[in-house]
Amino acid sequence: MSRFSRNGKLNIEELRKVFPVLSRQIRGKKLTYLDSGATTLKPLRVIEAVDHYYRNGTANIHRGVHLLSEEATSRYESTRTAVKDFLNAGDEREIVLTSGTTAGINLVAKSFVKSRVKTGDEILITAMEHHANIVPWQMLRDETGCKLVVAPVLEDGSLDVSAFKSLITGRTKFISCVWISNAFGVINPVKEMVHAAKSAGVPIMFDAAQAVAHEAVDVQSLDCDFLVFSGHKLFGPTGVGVLYGKMKHLEVMPPQMGGGDMIKSVSFEKTIYADVPAKFEAGTPDIAAVIGLGEGIRFVTEDLGFDVIRAHEQELLVAAELALQDVPDLKILGTAHPKVPIFSMILGKIHAHDVGTILDLQGVAVRTGHHCAQPLLARFGVPATVRASFSIYNDQEDIKALVQGLRKTLEMFA
Ligand code: ALA
Repeated sequence: MSRFSRNGKLNIEELRKVFPVLSRQIRGKKLTYLDSGATTLKPLRVIEAVDHYYRNGTANIHRGVHLLSEEATSRYESTRTAVKDFLNAGDEREIVLTSGTTAGINLVAKSFVKSRVKTGDEILITAMEHHANIVPWQMLRDETGCKLVVAPVLEDGSLDVSAFKSLITGRTKFISCVWISNAFGVINPVKEMVHAAKSAGVPIMFDAAQAVAHEAVDVQSLDCDFLVFSGHKLFGPTGVGVLYGKMKHLEVMPPQMGGGDMIKSVSFEKTIYADVPAKFEAGTPDIAAVIGLGEGIRFVTEDLGFDVIRAHEQELLVAAELALQDVPDLKILGTAHPKVPIFSMILGKIHAHDVGTILDLQGVAVRTGHHCAQPLLARFGVPATVRASFSIYNDQEDIKALVQGLRKTLEMFA
């Protein structure tokens, strides 16, 4: 039993009360927030932890002997422990605190992969990647002469798993794939993917930015080499994220940023770097955001639990799929299961931005455009979709509001 559930069933009314934004009126209407794929709303315990740090405990970390600094350091480091437990990592030192998913991928590309590739070598990604898992590899390709290989996506939006496996060859030096597609919500068969990578002896990383708020992650049982995510898609603040890496990799990786807090000693002749993970955390980090991330994780693990999250989100998924079937001229991209309740929609010939604007007038917040996944949308021959992405605080009323908003849009364009 968790704070917001009884016998595995979510008490949605109580849960919604801890998200202050949900009580806002948007253009005179009740807010229907369906943009959690872009960022999740923040519960009170996250907001209060950030507020508490600035109000009662502002201090830098790892530097002061005074009480405020000790408290800030201990709160900051307690997030590392929370992340370690959340991911079931074997060692706290395997948790590098970053500014987000993008920073984590770029760090691995530059610090781990760059020295391991040369002309003719290959890096494997998929056609459903977010730009954050495409552009860093293109930069590396241009620098090193290696090749970027892309595993295709099938018509239903799922990964072509047999093509993915067949693209792992003796030339493949690294694999970096998304766990859950941010544009379609489709869940990749990560265990099978790791198995294929391991059988060929190729290190594999997952972009778990969308996954962490929907699925329990166990990096030891998954046996991936790296995994990255952002705090703000896990009910935490923006500007903070995590790179998990196996100790044997992190130990040999050179830092990419030099500065304070990442050194053991500095002289003009020579600097000796700090150990893992400090060597990757140069400079004063976003301390408040890291503390907030710890609370975001505790919100998921202590107040909810993944059984409750999964059950509620699958209920929303089934109900929304059914309700959206009744909207004339609506096409959904990425219908493959398993998936989380993220719907990429095309409404007749109406431009996605027009649909988004009319939905906004009804208080319905969605994302429109390419969702930082232009190659995926190009694969389906469209430049933009309307994306409704649900989270734990959404309810059946939100589905109704979306359907009504889409119908209203059709009427206005009739
Ligand atoms: N990556 C975020 C999204 O999918 C911003 O909307």
